[in-house]
Amino acid sequence: MSTPASTNITCRFGSPRTVEADLLVCPWFEGEASSAFEGLDAACAGELTRAIESGEFAGRPFDIFITPLVDPGWKARRVALIGAGADAAFDPGVARRAATAVALAARSRRVSTLAFVMRPGQAAPSGDVDVAGFAQAIAEGLTLAEFDGAAYQTTERRIGPPPALTIVIPALRDTSPESPARLEGAVARGRVLGEASNLARALANEPANTLTPRLFAERASQVTAEGGVSVEVLDEQQIEALGMRMLLGVARGSSEPPRLMVFRYTPAGVTKGPVLGLVGKGVTFDTGGISIKPADGMERMKTDMSGGAAVACAMRAIARLNAPVRVVGVVPATENMPGGRALKPGDILRSAEGKTVEVVNTDAEGRLILGDALWYARQLGATHLVDVATLTGGIVVALGKTTSGVFGTPESWVDQVRRVGERAGDRMWQLPLFDDYRDQLKSEIADMMNTGGRPASSITAAMFLKEFTGGLPWAHVDIAGTAWADEAKPYMPKGPTGVAVRTLVELALSADAWK
Ligand code: BES
Ligand code: MN
Ligand code: ZN
Repeated sequence: MSTPASTNITCRFGSPRTVEADLLVCPWFEGEASSAFEGLDAACAGELTRAIESGEFAGRPFDIFITPLVDPGWKARRVALIGAGADAAFDPGVARRAATAVALAARSRRVSTLAFVMRPGQAAPSGDVDVAGFAQAIAEGLTLAEFDGAAYQTTERRIGPPPALTIVIPALRDTSPESPARLEGAVARGRVLGEASNLARALANEPANTLTPRLFAERASQVTAEGGVSVEVLDEQQIEALGMRMLLGVARGSSEPPRLMVFRYTPAGVTKGPVLGLVGKGVTFDTGGISIKPADGMERMKTDMSGGAAVACAMRAIARLNAPVRVVGVVPATENMPGGRALKPGDILRSAEGKTVEVVNTDAEGRLILGDALWYARQLGATHLVDVATLTGGIVVALGKTTSGVFGTPESWVDQVRRVGERAGDRMWQLPLFDDYRDQLKSEIADMMNTGGRPASSITAAMFLKEFTGGLPWAHVDIAGTAWADEAKPYMPKGPTGVAVRTLVELALSADAWK
């Protein structure tokens, strides 16, 4: 199966009047007068004034108002106003969501061509507006609306195919430093980032019977190789030869063998300097093993490979966008099953690093496979580590469904990851790794236990990972709450979110800021 080739997003510079489209989309700010967009109210026969005066449409975030354009001087058939909230709060993050929301609405209305008019916030003086940032975010948002979460539905679909996309960039103010070529580059970059997010969502959405560790490795190899990444997939013998007994231990309970995916990206001519090491949890199904989970909601554990999918799909985008830094990706893939040869509570495993672990709870499997994978990323020459994992239920309790947890050391590296994530639309919040927490992992018989009990369970999980980072700069992102949306939002349907993909890519793209 090959990845469907997507069309580009067209850029149009100049007046929205001349743009032919089924639906012309304009962001609209709260409290704006109907005259705010020159000529638009007249072009729709005063419908804007009417809608604003009656209170039908007020520009509140992600509200949508659609009306025909009756003036033949305007080439589009209808206009959609997408609520953009307060003018002063309008940033690329809001623009990304507005673009997704309106493109999803357009799909359910079977719109065939959509043209999104860029309107950076009015409040900021022209020089301060990050026009390229807006262009990229809108391209990302429009692309995110193309995700198909119902790939296995054979009957009538509630949502139409994605429309052809145009971004309209009206005349920029004279002082703007942005050239059309730079803005086109930003749109193309946003397209690649959005597509990578959607590929990760498709993988996370795949059930465990169509995405075993072997099939995951096959799909991920294809996605990355197409992007220009070198891929290696290690089988159980090669994993054994590396001494990765924590990964093998988790895999023992399943009749599906584990795989270790290794991705390498080297920009042309770069032989020195930092190497970004990305590690993602790839548990294709987590039953809990012998410490088995309750049946209720267990089907969700097909998404326990979301971190691994994020790493693979980020690698693809990193290569396609020619990031300026070397990157290695390591994704351990396994099922966590309670088979006859499964790990039992109390079993002791020796990690590839050499440390011994008493497995007191077989459901704390993510940290076991990640410990070996972090070690391996170091063997491959990583100088800066980031791991992404659906690691703990505790992080959902702490931060909910909107914010991933981030942990690590030193502060400067964690903060770099957090800030890049904020810009990329992946909100994170840092939790501490005070040394005292290490006591919770003390084992009577081995170097450590694999769980520290219920208190601060996300933190002790991160403390466990820290043992395998060799003192390198390292950030751990716990996406257990953010990888899957339980509730639909105007800008995000229920299902896989693609969290962390754009953060990882932007981190590689911005390497000059941290290397
Ligand atoms: N995959 C789960 C964490 C998870 C929970 C992901 C909810 C997505 C949604 C992980 O392997 C797990 O089972 N963690 C346990 C650890 C515990 C046994 C120490 C947890 O957090 O409950
Ligand atoms: Mn588990
Ligand atoms: Zn798990």
